[in-house]
Amino acid sequence: MEKYHIEGGVPLRGEVDISGAKNAALPILAASVMTKGENCFTCCPEISDVDSMVRILEALGCSIRRDGETMAVDATGLSDWRIPDHLMKEMRSSVFLAGSLLARCGEAVISNPGGCNIGKRPIDIHIKGLKALGAVVERHTDSIVLKADKLKGTHIRLDYPSVGATENLLLAATAAQGTTIIENSAREPEITDLQEYINRCGGRVFGAGTGRIVIEGGMKLAGSDHRIIGDRIEAGSYLLMAMGTGGEVFLRGIKAEPIGSLIEVLESGGYSIKEDEGGVWARSKGHGLVSCRVTTKPYPGFPTDLHPQLAAFLTANGKSSSIEETIFENRFNYAKQLVKMGADIEILEKKVIIGSNKILYGEKITAEDLRGGAALIIAGLMATGDTIVQNTRYIKRGYSRLSEKIGLLGGKIREYE
Ligand code: UD1
Repeated sequence: MEKYHIEGGVPLRGEVDISGAKNAALPILAASVMTKGENCFTCCPEISDVDSMVRILEALGCSIRRDGETMAVDATGLSDWRIPDHLMKEMRSSVFLAGSLLARCGEAVISNPGGCNIGKRPIDIHIKGLKALGAVVERHTDSIVLKADKLKGTHIRLDYPSVGATENLLLAATAAQGTTIIENSAREPEITDLQEYINRCGGRVFGAGTGRIVIEGGMKLAGSDHRIIGDRIEAGSYLLMAMGTGGEVFLRGIKAEPIGSLIEVLESGGYSIKEDEGGVWARSKGHGLVSCRVTTKPYPGFPTDLHPQLAAFLTANGKSSSIEETIFENRFNYAKQLVKMGADIEILEKKVIIGSNKILYGEKITAEDLRGGAALIIAGLMATGDTIVQNTRYIKRGYSRLSEKIGLLGGKIREYE
């Protein structure tokens, strides 16, 4: 099992390059199967979820070349629409292929997707919307078969602004005859990036970033060049690492707006955070303790994907705070690991209560999911003494070159078997 060894207590200082967003790269790679000709993606993060998506695309007949964060994908020779179950289970985002394969082939065979164990994560909203577009869906013991001779534009109102369902339906609707309107759509910036990519390929999608997306279907899509937007969750994680250790950081490649809800929390504790050319500066000098009541919400609310990292930060830099989780019911696995390190943190039904700031002590701790794992890295960097974080495979799903980036900021972290 791979582990991180962290020597804590060193303030992180310097500049960090924010990679392309995992949650934009994955649906965009899934969308690329709808195009003919070569796509060239830049700022494509080097994370294991992207590796999994590449394995799926190759299994379907796409040709892929990769060089660091640049990836060329050509789906002209796509020859299959059945995703092998073992690849489907590698990550949640495999589900986006339902929409894009239906659009390209009129058929998709998927199974229930994998992903971090942070809650039940059903796909009923995806399936309901695909049916509204004209897909026939058969559920078998180990597969879900979706077929549509002809997808037809329609008016869909989502029961909940699900990010994944919005993206899946947007993909399928690009091939539908006529116009589709998705109401109560999710507004996350990664959806806007997906819209931008599809439109570069020749699609006609409008309204991403609002609660109403309009897709004029039936356009032929050609491969295109696209730069993936910066990862706001990665940026927020480095912000918390640097502020949590009393350092300062320039987050290169991100704007302030997508991490606005986190900036607001930190500013309430006296941290100084400013957007500058090409990124965001953050300084901890002169800060006090943060006391906050945060509730996770769909964008532009506080992101569930930054809940564990904020909790870790608050254990050493906050007082009488709470974080209520409204999106994924099983997001609290990190908390018992923080308790082992000396944190004053209590889990109620859907909430964590974080008492007054404590000194954390290095411990042997175990990541149980991606964002919870990032929280343990933050705790290890803030702690006195040495921390071992086990199960790094979860963290590698979503953080590109983590130990290298922390090392460049002066943090003491190394990976070992
Ligand atoms: C996406 C992000 C994930 C983030 C989450 C919430 C990607 C690849 N992943 O996940 O990092 O944590 O948004 O911002 O972009 N739900 C249903 N039925 C459905 C779909 C969702 O009940 O068919 C529920 C979920 O259980 C959850 C809520 O809706 O409670 C939000 O889920 P959703 O926005 O779909 O999250 P994901 O797309 O899985």
